Amino acid sequence: MSVRKIIRMGHPTLRQRAQELPAKDIGGPGLHQLLEDMADTLADSGGIGLAAPQIDVPLRVAIIDMPQGSTRYDSDERIPHTVFINPVITVLDDEEAGYWEGCLSVPGLRGFVQRPQHVRVDYLDQAGVPRQRALSGFSATVIQHEFDHLDGRLYIDHIKTPELLMFEEEWLEYHAAR
Ligand code: NI
Repeated sequence: MSVRKIIRMGHPTLRQRAQELPAKDIGGPGLHQLLEDMADTLADSGGIGLAAPQIDVPLRVAIIDMPQGSTRYDSDERIPHTVFINPVITVLDDEEAGYWEGCLSVPGLRGFVQRPQHVRVDYLDQAGVPRQRALSGFSATVIQHEFDHLDGRLYIDHIKTPELLMFEEEWLEYHAAR
């Protein structure tokens, strides 16, 4: 078990474009260790997604773990523990929806963000096998949030007005039912 430190907004790594993971590294001990550490760090954090740059590793790797049967989110489509290597997102249509987002690298805050709601992702799994997956609803938002980290973006970049950014406690008290 190796829980790594999650870097926070202001750390320069969060604002850099991460590098593609070289094909030769897939299946190697370095990637295996990175994925173990990311899984441990995500489980320890209580979050649902983690991108490698958030532990100061500037590679295009992310994991998402939205538990099956969770009642925390209203989406009926969930992403069980999945590793995404060198993912590419394609927006399938112009329908958008908004959700209150939070981020392990921006602790204590929530912001309302609108994003495309139907996307396709092409990626490699941890064995290097090309995969493709279509996602909609909250799952589509989660995956766009995580992959933004690979391009040096944070969810706050998408908030349309500062009034839609707030502390988590006040969000829970006044806005969570929205
Ligand atoms: Ni985040």
